[in-house]
Amino acid sequence: MYILLMGPPGAGKGTQAAKLVEKFGIPHISTGDMFRAAVQEGTPLGKQAKECMDAGQLVPDSVTIGIVKERLVKDDCRQGFILDGFPRTTAQAGALETTLSEIGITLDRAINITVPDDELVRRMTGRRICKGCGATWHIEFHPPASHGVCDKCGGALYQRDDDTEATVVKRLSVYAAQTNPLIDYYQDRGLYTEIDGRKEIDEVFDGIVGSLRSAGA
Ligand code: AP5
Ligand code: ZN
Repeated sequence: MYILLMGPPGAGKGTQAAKLVEKFGIPHISTGDMFRAAVQEGTPLGKQAKECMDAGQLVPDSVTIGIVKERLVKDDCRQGFILDGFPRTTAQAGALETTLSEIGITLDRAINITVPDDELVRRMTGRRICKGCGATWHIEFHPPASHGVCDKCGGALYQRDDDTEATVVKRLSVYAAQTNPLIDYYQDRGLYTEIDGRKEIDEVFDGIVGSLRSAGA
């Protein structure tokens, strides 16, 4: 099962990807997570990515395409994957198509989770992440039982540097300009499905699983 999870910043891609991993046992490939890991490790890639991320801008295509290609050729992608946050530009989509055809993989679905901008701002500014296991929470919409502490592992929660209101607004405008054109791209290829991301987390998940089933994935 080869799935693209699209959707604006804060739409719930990471939340839904974690549930899909649990259900289907296929790898979750998130370019945002890869960049954050590089920032944590203090590598040259991490330094370059941090500058772009903190400004709400995309990391250059040449860099992003390279790291995704390296990841997709690994053996664990042979049974499927969930690509989250990639592609984000038409150049990335073209490079993905070429790479997948080289390794003999056909995409099953490009699922776009849609949520209005005002709700996205609330989701991102209220998001908290676990330092221990990376689980995602929300102070209002998906709170842990105990304030500031992860239910899953007891780890402390933190806020992402790019989740300030000003950066969030910038990220949404970059998304509209650079990533929205991919809707047509995947519609033209008959792969596109839109899911209403305003619903409860479990309802959104049921919608995604239903669309995968009806696509025969
Ligand atoms: P990335 O990490 O990919 O961020 P993003 O696309 O901006 O998406 P988010 O991770 O912010 O949101 P999400 O959709 O995963 O939502 P979540 O599930 O957490 O990218 C970060 C940066 O890296 C980019 O800005 C760019 O600089 C760089 N980058 C990454 N990929 C790149 C690429 N391909 N090319 C170039 N640069 C790239 O949910 C959000 C919150 O809402 C959570 O608190 C959650 O609990 C809550 N929530 C989730 N679902 C619901 C629901 N149904 N109802 C209520 N609340 C909900
Ligand atoms: Zn945790």
